[in-house]
Amino acid sequence: MTFNILHIDCSPREESHSRGLSAAIVEMLLDAAPGGHVSRRDLGASPLPHATADYATTLSSPATLAAPVPGSLDLSEELIQEVEAADAIVIGTPMHNLTVPSVLKAWIDQIMRAGRTFRTTPTGKTGMVTDRPVYIAIASGGTFTGELANQPDFLTPYLSTVLGSMGLKCIQFLSIQATAFLVGEAAAAAREKALAAIDLSVVAESPRIAAQGGD
Ligand SMILES: Cc1cc2nc3c(=O)[nH]c(=O)nc-3n(C[C@H](O)[C@H](O)[C@H](O)COP(=O)(O)O)c2cc1C
Repeated sequence: MTFNILHIDCSPREESHSRGLSAAIVEMLLDAAPGGHVSRRDLGASPLPHATADYATTLSSPATLAAPVPGSLDLSEELIQEVEAADAIVIGTPMHNLTVPSVLKAWIDQIMRAGRTFRTTPTGKTGMVTDRPVYIAIASGGTFTGELANQPDFLTPYLSTVLGSMGLKCIQFLSIQATAFLVGEAAAAAREKALAAIDLSVVAESPRIAAQGGD
């Protein structure tokens, strides 16, 4: 069985801290699962369109979801199938204005679909996607955790909640913070420090891997 990694990046910059961190995570996963396959979705270099009128119309009610505007769900379906094919997902993202960049939000707007990736119940959304490890590599110019935090964090709670709503609950956040003050070798040191927190054991324990027999 080939171990499939979906590698997503969101920074518009090539020499980006979140890209460096997400690439290092992918390398670690490939070391743990030799011969693994990497699917790439570079949202920073090739942003998705925002939700179109046809897509929004289809998503506007159960009736329209049952009879979608022709073609309006094609992109959504393609992106959801990329998620479903992945044994692990790695997302590199900057913090933009206290939360996710709009390119990542545009991806979420396509993969969160009632009746396809989540069900709406009286008590909230229930995920329809089998859980699998999601590693999220964050870069922020300032600091958002710990005693030195100088801003609120609407990024990690948002991603935990929205991805959890579709069933992806095994999420690890790794971050390089205060990138505004990182120069030269300090950037590599910050990346190594962020990577030290990674837990790769969840990959072997993933329900999706277990369902496939774990080999
Ligand atoms: C539009 C924009 C908004 C930003 N907002 C924040 C912010 O709210 N908090 C923060 O700490 N850094 C903010 N930054 C700085 C980036 O998070 C920082 O430069 C980070 O290293 C970018 O990620 P990258 O290195 O992967 O490109 C912002 C940068 C941009 C371009």
